[in-house]
Amino acid sequence: MTAYAAGGERVGGRSYDGPVPGCGAPAGTDAGRRAWTGGHSVYAASPDGTAVTSSGARGTAATARFAAFAVKGLEDVAAAEIRDLLGPTAVVEETRTKAVVFRAGYAEAMRDLRTVDDLCILAADVPTAGSPGEFRDALAAHADLAAAIDLVATLRPMDGTFSVTVSAARAAAGNAKELLATATEVIAGRYGLRPSPPDTRAPIDVRIFVDRSYLLVGVRLFEAPLTHRAYRVVDSMGSLRPTVAAAMVRLARPAGTPARFWDPFCGSGTIPAEAALAGHEIAGTDISADAVAAARANLATVAPGLEAGIGIGDALSPGTWHRHSDADTIVTNLPWGKQIPIASRATLFTAVGQGIGARVARGGRARILTVEPDRLIAAIRRVNPAAVTHSRTIGLLGQAPTIVGVTPGAPAPR
Ligand SMILES: C[S@@+](CC[C@H](N)C(=O)[O-])C[C@H]1O[C@@H](n2cnc3c(N)ncnc32)[C@H](O)[C@@H]1O
Repeated sequence: MTAYAAGGERVGGRSYDGPVPGCGAPAGTDAGRRAWTGGHSVYAASPDGTAVTSSGARGTAATARFAAFAVKGLEDVAAAEIRDLLGPTAVVEETRTKAVVFRAGYAEAMRDLRTVDDLCILAADVPTAGSPGEFRDALAAHADLAAAIDLVATLRPMDGTFSVTVSAARAAAGNAKELLATATEVIAGRYGLRPSPPDTRAPIDVRIFVDRSYLLVGVRLFEAPLTHRAYRVVDSMGSLRPTVAAAMVRLARPAGTPARFWDPFCGSGTIPAEAALAGHEIAGTDISADAVAAARANLATVAPGLEAGIGIGDALSPGTWHRHSDADTIVTNLPWGKQIPIASRATLFTAVGQGIGARVARGGRARILTVEPDRLIAAIRRVNPAAVTHSRTIGLLGQAPTIVGVTPGAPAPR
């Protein structure tokens, strides 16, 4: 993994060959196993803390159903990453709005899914929980959490408490607060577990996901959502969700095809960090000194030396694009103009259209997240009419920004 400095000079960065600091596997403990005794013992823990099935086999022998939650519009990217990372033993059964349901044996590699927001071992998948009564019945009758709790008990200590996290969209069974109250009551009664204090996450975190009438119930596999990144030691205003950054990186360059990434509006460096973790060379610039300081701290946490690829730069200046002319892949998140004011949107789109249109004419590729895709595409086409653009609208922070993809067009016929 390397950062490269403007002008193409390579600078030191050590190769990354382990998990992100802080994202390593916590060993299961005897205390953890003792505290939960109501399970089915489908899984137990080996002395080194890895999950072992009741037949004694590791990994894929006992399969379970999992739900991977993803940003709306990026579910197919998450499904592809699940297939790539887990191999043929993982069978993606269905890709739904914001969720991918798959069957697999538990594998430590699941911690490394970078485009997935959260991962649960599924206890129930019910299409008809459309009323408060049906929701309660589904939890009471169908949601057998014991096997799921058995598995997470092999991963971390249990203390007899549980929490509930609800995501509800257009749910006829009630609002999130009502669903949370019902779920807490049913689970406490059925499993003899104690609810954790409000707004705290217990070792057993039950995930309830409702979209209209369909209900997924599971137990969060890992102690923190997969959106958590240990490298993010400094946040800055408008930081991108890391799973979206990881998806944009994958969309720009499929896994296993190393490229030179540059983010000209890098903010706190989320896109360069995800690109570096995917094996690419990286550079990032931003006009704000505070953002650059944040990005340098974050990149140094990914791997010492990577911060050398981050510097101050005005993306509206042709000189900045020139200094990064060796980057073949531009992935960026344009300022939306809400949290971070921008002087002139017209100037911004003209400069970005010019830079990307020219770069793609030389064989480069780009992925840009913007709330004004049509304006961006028009600016790129003015410079490079042959560029092929494609748009993917996602759901983020209650808005619907678009990832614009830009690739070279077919060469003109002679
Ligand atoms: C949406 S934020 C990027 C967030 C980033 N992806 C992250 O995860 O932190 C947009 C960034 O553009 C920067 N910016 C605004 N105008 C700029 C300019 N003319 N040149 C370079 N950066 C600029 C802002 O300072 C801000 O950090």
